[in-house]
Amino acid sequence: MHKKWILSLAALVTVILLSATAGAQNYPKVRELRMDRQTPPQGVACIECHRQETPGIFADWAMSRHASAGITCLDCHQAQPGDKDIAVEHEKYYSMGDMPMGEKQYFVPIAAPVTPKDCSRCHPDEAKQYSKSKHANTIEIMWKIDPWLNQGMNSDNERKTGCFYCHGTVLKMKDGKLDPATWPNVGVGRLNLDGSLGSCTSCHTRHRFSVMEARKPETCGQCHLGPDHPQIEIYNESKHGDIYHAFKQEYNFDSAPGAWTPGVDYRAPTCASCHMSGSGKQPTTHDVTERLSWETQAPLTVRPQDFKPFPSGTDWQVERDKMRDICKQCHGNAWVDDHYTQFDKAVEEYNEAYFKPAKAILDQLYEKGLLDKSKFFDENLEVQYYELWHHEGRRARMGAAMMAPDYAWWHGFYECKHRFNHFMEEARHLIETNTKAYRYPDFPNTGGDTTRPVEIFGKQ
Ligand code: HEC
Ligand code: HEC
Ligand code: HEC
Ligand code: HEC
Ligand code: HEC
Ligand code: HEC
Ligand code: HEC
Ligand code: HEC
Repeated sequence: MHKKWILSLAALVTVILLSATAGAQNYPKVRELRMDRQTPPQGVACIECHRQETPGIFADWAMSRHASAGITCLDCHQAQPGDKDIAVEHEKYYSMGDMPMGEKQYFVPIAAPVTPKDCSRCHPDEAKQYSKSKHANTIEIMWKIDPWLNQGMNSDNERKTGCFYCHGTVLKMKDGKLDPATWPNVGVGRLNLDGSLGSCTSCHTRHRFSVMEARKPETCGQCHLGPDHPQIEIYNESKHGDIYHAFKQEYNFDSAPGAWTPGVDYRAPTCASCHMSGSGKQPTTHDVTERLSWETQAPLTVRPQDFKPFPSGTDWQVERDKMRDICKQCHGNAWVDDHYTQFDKAVEEYNEAYFKPAKAILDQLYEKGLLDKSKFFDENLEVQYYELWHHEGRRARMGAAMMAPDYAWWHGFYECKHRFNHFMEEARHLIETNTKAYRYPDFPNTGGDTTRPVEIFGKQ
């Protein structure tokens, strides 16, 4: 950070900026601020009062590139006429004599949620790309395919503390306030009251809104982990992850947006380098579905354009070439070609040797009435089948996609074999003895709401 900023907002703010930055190592002790335009008194009031009331929020904002560019609280939080999410109670602070600038004359209505639509005023390209992505549209995708939700196999609270934390809630108002059942939430597909999808803070936490943070793998790892999509574990195990951990002090994570250069700023890629950041001929994208040639999270691996619940509208070969361009900043053609050959082979073997035979026998059991179709997860074979594709089947495919041998084999195909054999043993036994499968009579904590959100699907 070698830039110098000149302050012209107010003497008071300078003092606070000094104290806000003291202690941060990567910044000069004195950081001045140039406001390119006049901040109206209402905007100064936000800053002054919040500096005292919520110093953490103030300090984050003061350290952001937004503050350097003169983007203030008002630019993001000021409510527009007709907004449904206005923080009605906030008005009361404007009659609090003990708070800085707590006077009626400075009042403007504000909203707490700041949505992709709000950011799109200044960042239209990022918002548009994001809106097409699976990140933004994940609530729709979940409700189209997920048995936990569609059959009410878990409780509403299990979803709120689990699923919707990562995927996003449908924001609602209750008694003039944001409904605590839906807020706070920064899931990737949050449906906002202005109709926009997502929350940019999933990767750029407020109020720093930093590209540096979004470029680091830990940011993605908040959601991309665990038994069913262990991308952060896979990454940490790969050579790329090893190098990241060994050399990250030398990486320049803070280079200007769009100018993060392989070889110069980093020597091995992070999640963002491969999936989002610009590199070589490839521009930055906020649509993480770009650069993908397979749907390796689906039960049967298909091309993204053939994924029925949410066809990508892309051509898999074009997308693969984009990803290859990224690899070729640091690798030769043969290295990259051979990697994809192995990956394709892993996908084919998973589909043919594991998934299709398991699916065929499951269908047979339903047909013969030996398994009950009315509920999923309440019979052992359904759980086994689910874990075969949803857990180890994904780990095998994704381990192969992202160079993690332990996930491809020990947590992947090895466990697929194990699961498959047990699954087949029980399935065959039921068929041979013509016995109905045991049903768990007291499946715990079911009953979550099974109505698809009308805000997305309309009235059913
Ligand atoms: C006179 C003091 C004061 C002023 C001026 C003020 N705020 Fe606040 N604001 C507060 C306090 C106090 C809270 C509540 C903090 C808490 O929950 O403890 C708050 C809460 C908020 C919230 C969260 C609201 C919610 O419902 O969760 C936002 C967003 C916010 N302020 C933004 C602004 C913006 C933008 C401005 C300028 C237009 C502004 N504030 C001006 C004192 C003030
Ligand atoms: C670049 C846009 C932007 C600017 C500038 C901005 N905010 Fe925010 N603010 C956000 C976003 C995004 C959130 C998270 C809300 C959400 O998830 O929709 C947020 C949340 C908040 C909250 C609630 C957070 C909490 O943890 O309770 C408060 C209070 C708040 N902002 C105050 C301020 C104040 C005061 C300023 C100016 C010093 C400011 N904001 C500047 C975008 C902004
Ligand atoms: C009023 C215009 C405006 C709004 C609204 C706005 N931004 Fe920005 N944003 C800017 C400007 C200008 C810059 C460039 C600052 C610079 O390069 O110094 C910027 C830079 C950024 C950066 C790059 C920061 C970095 O580390 O280089 C991110 C990320 C970002 N904005 C995200 C957001 C998000 C998310 C929102 C909505 C919550 C938002 N912005 C709302 C104007 C805006
Ligand atoms: C820790 C965060 C997290 C939690 C908790 C979580 N998910 Fe996910 N979910 C993800 C991620 C990340 C993916 C993307 C997987 C991939 O592409 O590898 C995903 C994928 C999915 C998919 C597949 C989407 C597709 O395009 O095929 C569905 C459906 C889904 N989740 C539903 C749920 C449900 C229902 C719950 C709760 C019962 C849940 N998730 C809990 C993060 C989470
Ligand atoms: C899944 C994580 C993620 C989400 C969610 C996300 N971003 Fe980003 N964003 C990134 C990454 C990674 C970069 C850095 C690209 C690079 O290396 O230059 C970035 C960069 C940016 C930049 C700098 C300019 C550029 O395009 O490189 C802006 C502005 C920005 N994001 C705005 C937004 C807005 C607005 C939203 C919400 C619509 C959003 N981001 C949501 C990951 C994310
Ligand atoms: C707040 C949680 C969250 C964060 C943070 C997050 N993701 Fe995701 N991501 C998800 C969920 C949920 C899905 C599944 C969406 C679906 O398919 O319905 C997903 C899907 C994906 C996909 C698969 C897209 C497809 O078309 O199949 C990729 C690639 C991806 N994320 C990359 C990233 C990267 C890179 C980052 C960090 C820069 C990141 N994500 C950060 C939750 C998150
Ligand atoms: C070396 C580049 C590289 C790195 C680093 C990387 N990925 Fe990947 N990722 C890939 C490739 C290649 C694929 C398979 C793409 C395809 O389908 O052609 C993939 C697949 C995925 C998928 C599955 C998408 C689907 O629908 O099948 C997700 C999700 C994902 N990556 C997320 C992440 C996350 C999160 C990180 C960091 C923890 C990460 N990736 C790190 C290259 C990378
Ligand atoms: C920023 C540079 C960079 C990018 C981009 C990059 N890699 Fe790498 N990759 C490396 C480095 C450095 C190594 C370590 C080579 C060694 O072992 O000396 C490596 C190692 C590998 C390995 C060997 C892993 C092992 O354990 O032996 C494979 C396979 C690989 N990369 C494939 C890819 C693919 C495929 C892509 C694109 C999806 C990609 N890389 C993108 C720098 C990069």
